[in-house]
Parts: sequence; structure tokens; C-alpha cells
Amino acid sequence: MASVAERIFVSQESSPEIPNKVQPHIKGGVELVHVDKAFSNGLVATDDISLTIEPGCFYSLLGPSGCGKTTLLRMIAGFDSPDAGDIRIAGKSILGTPAYRRSVNTVFQSYCLFPHMTIRKNIEFGLKMKRIQPLKRRQRVDEMLSGMQIEQLADAYPAQLSGGQKQRVALARALINEPEVLLLDEPLSALDAKLRRELQIELLRLQKSTGITFIFVTHDQHEAMIMSDKIGIMQHGRIQQTGSAYELYEHPRTVFIARFLGLQNIIRKSALTHIPAHSSSAHHLTIHPERITLLSPNENPREDGLSNYRGVIKDRLYKGAHTDYVVELENGVELLVSDQSPLHQRRTPGMYVDVVFSMADLIPLEE
Ligand SMILES: Nc1ncnc2c1ncn2[C@@H]1O[C@H](COP(=O)(O)OP(=O)(O)OP(=O)(O)O)[C@@H](O)[C@H]1O
Ligand SMILES: [Mg+2]
Repeated sequence: MASVAERIFVSQESSPEIPNKVQPHIKGGVELVHVDKAFSNGLVATDDISLTIEPGCFYSLLGPSGCGKTTLLRMIAGFDSPDAGDIRIAGKSILGTPAYRRSVNTVFQSYCLFPHMTIRKNIEFGLKMKRIQPLKRRQRVDEMLSGMQIEQLADAYPAQLSGGQKQRVALARALINEPEVLLLDEPLSALDAKLRRELQIELLRLQKSTGITFIFVTHDQHEAMIMSDKIGIMQHGRIQQTGSAYELYEHPRTVFIARFLGLQNIIRKSALTHIPAHSSSAHHLTIHPERITLLSPNENPREDGLSNYRGVIKDRLYKGAHTDYVVELENGVELLVSDQSPLHQRRTPGMYVDVVFSMADLIPLEE
């Protein structure tokens, strides 16, 4: 069977799709069953978390600082143990297995390379621990260096590398162990925007070509949305909602989730009239800015099922492909409207408009 390094290499030649010559060997999934963890100071880090991460899934954990993301990863890796509950990989409990024997590797924001070792020695480290023969080790490290396109760094030391290069080495060092599960704790947070985008694409390709289950922690909802097969949003040690990016965007369950996803139109239901009586009992609603149309007052079709609000443009934010408007309705509610029509630059602050959207596009939000 092809090694991880060979699969990486093939995937780079035939990018961006999964290589057709070497199929990924899908690795084990992860299950958390009623996992609790509190620290001695009484802080609850994870509170009855149950979660199934499918084999070969790119799963992102998204949530504000202190919500328990790192603690969750540390328990999967074996650096911390839960007070209650079970953690399983490929269907088997791993709680009795020490960290170094779990088929799990971790990549940290701070790289954590061994500073006194060359890049080659850093990458080789896991194989040495596993007592792989020197010749075989050398071959696997060479494959990994070329797969990750860092051959020229083989004899350098970590201090001589840029942040992006260090993170490539950290990934190579983890992947060479061919783990079932790779944990990534904000691995891109220290990188500048351009490098971050490059590594996002690289990580995605690596994940798809190796079939390793990735659990990726990020603060950044856009990053989670573009990369993940599934996202879990955490708050106060609990997973509040899981779903694909599409499911979360179309059906955010609560006000917190909607805010965390960066949705800006969070409206008290009582502020909108004409809401059909049968709509849910939620007190808040959201609507996506691109689902709202602005019309001149005399253009409004006033059909059933459409909103009927008059507003005034407060701000215009020209963004090239579209323009965002902040529109204040007569009752003082402000809505963000994203206009992609070719004439999107024609409305200016102070203009009166009719704000038109389908009532079906209002998404109810629980508290
Ligand atoms: N070793 C520890 N001792 C005591 N409390 C801890 C310890 N580690 C974490 N905590 C607490 O547990 C909670 C969760 O911390 P954790 O590091 O898992 O959060 P996080 O979601 O990773 O946050 P961030 O986004 O800032 O990295 C926090 O309230 C934190 O203060
Ligand atoms: Mg953390």
C-alpha cells in the first residue's frame, strides 16, 4: 500500500482532486461519549460532550477563547484524561492507551519543533521512536521532504525557517507517523493572510489525499467554513451545534451560533410586522444580506409572502463584486443588504428604498 508521503506526492501532481492512481486509505473515526472534564480550580472545560467524527472527515472545532477546544484535543491526544466518559478511535476505547502509543499526532500553533535538531532529524523523530531501520527511515523522510516540497530545508535548523516553513515541517513530522487522527490546534493562526490561504489549500489537499481524520481547531469562522466537511461550534464546554458549513449557514440554531458565524442581521421578531402567525415561537430571526433586495419605492411588486418595509440607506460599503448597504427601516431596525446587481453602485446614503425579501428566508433563532 502507498505510504502517506507517496499519496501526498501523487496528490500534488494531480491536484486539486483526489489522485486516481493512489486512493486514500480512509483512517479511523473518533467518538466522544459523554466526555466531562473539570480542572481542580473548578473550571469546567468540557461538559458532557458526545460527538461522532466520521472516518476520513475534516472536522473543525470552532468557538470563542476558553470554550474548551484545546482541552478536548488534549484528551484525544492523551495529554489529559477525562473525568468521565469514553473516547474511541476506530471503534476502540483509547483511554487506557498512553499518549505515545495512540495513533494520534498533534500540530500546534507554535510549531513545537526540536530546536537543536535539523529538519531531517525533526521529521525522522517519530520513526526512530518506532525503531524503524535507518535505511527505511531515510527513504521515508526523503519522500516526505519532497512530498511537502521542503527538500532544500533538510539540513537547516528550525530557527532558520519562516513560520510557513516551520508549519510544513511540523505537518511532515506528524504525517510521517501515518496516524489515524491528526489534531491541529490553530495551526495557521500565527501566519500572515497570504500564507494562511496557501496552507489552507495545502491542508485540504493533504487531508483528502491521505484519508487521515483531521480535527482542526480555529477561531476563524470563514476558515472553518471553507475547509471542513463538518463543523462543531463550542460554547462553555459544550458542542452547541454540528453540521456542514451549508447546514450551519442555512440553519443556525441559536443567537450565539448566528453571531459566531458572523451573521449580522439578528433581529428581534417583535421589530418586524407581517410575520406569518404560524412561524416559530423564537424571539429572534436572521436573514442573509444577499437574500434581501432593495427597490425604488415605485418598483415594489408587493406580492404575498414578500416583506413590505420602507427604509433609508445609512451607509454604503463598496466591495468590488458587490456593495453592502446598511439600511434603517422606519421602526429603527438596521439591516445589512448585499447587492450584487450590475447597478449596485447606484444607491447612495440618504435614498429611500423598499426593502424586499421573502418571509420564507427569515430563519428563526433560539436564545
Ligand atoms: N491546566 C489547566 N488548569 C486549570 N484550568 C485550565 C487548564 N487548562 C485549561 N483550563 C481552563 O479550561 C477552560 C478551557 O480551556 P481551553 O484551553 O480548552 O480553551 P480553548 O477553547 O482552547 O481556548 P483558546 O481559544 O483561548 O485556545 C478555560 O476556562 C481554561 O482557563
Ligand atoms: Mg486553545
